Amino acid sequence: MSTTKPCTPTDGEDISNGTRRDFLKQTSLLTGIALTPGTVVKAAENQWDEKLAGVFEKQALHLEVNGVKQELMVEPRVTLLEVLREHLGLTGTKKGCDRGQCGACTVHVNGVRINSCLSLALTNDGKKITTIEGLAKEEELHPMQEAFIKHDGFQCGYCTSGQIMSAVALLKEGHAGSETEIREFMSGNICRCGAYPNIVKAIQEVKGDMV
Ligand code: FES
Ligand code: FES
Repeated sequence: MSTTKPCTPTDGEDISNGTRRDFLKQTSLLTGIALTPGTVVKAAENQWDEKLAGVFEKQALHLEVNGVKQELMVEPRVTLLEVLREHLGLTGTKKGCDRGQCGACTVHVNGVRINSCLSLALTNDGKKITTIEGLAKEEELHPMQEAFIKHDGFQCGYCTSGQIMSAVALLKEGHAGSETEIREFMSGNICRCGAYPNIVKAIQEVKGDMV
């Protein structure tokens, strides 16, 4: 006679209720954790159940993007970059590193340049956002866009919208006093093609037109 125990619940264990439910809860949680960012994983590790649920609960977001009012519902973990590209279809703003190191995602928030990949969308509630799509006036390009074209300020073009948004902000900030200063204050924008000399020329030209 075999002594192998059948694969059944132990005494007092109700698989149809608590045990199975707990198992499903755990496995679905683990699956979710595998697909989510580190902060959420940490919340789960600490068993912050309510806080974890809050991460996924959508909240209202009001923005004015390129002069157009937008009302959205977004999860607290969503970045401004994701809202612009994925919710509003404004794909001129590029996702490069997604961690604040390349500047490809640069936009203006209330006139100030930021890396939109580092900014949670909900923290921008009520603010005015300008993206590369908002610089031109209908068919008329912004002078900085014209200058980038004239001076060949790009090759592959992937970094270009971020470069132009930073360049426009840099002039407003008064940081275009010399080539050295321009390079320093554009240093958060990385161009893998090495178009920097032409980018500097474009900025200097627009500065000359403005003074
Ligand atoms: S994508 Fe935001 S800084 Fe690189
Ligand atoms: S133009 Fe190619 S990365 Fe800047």
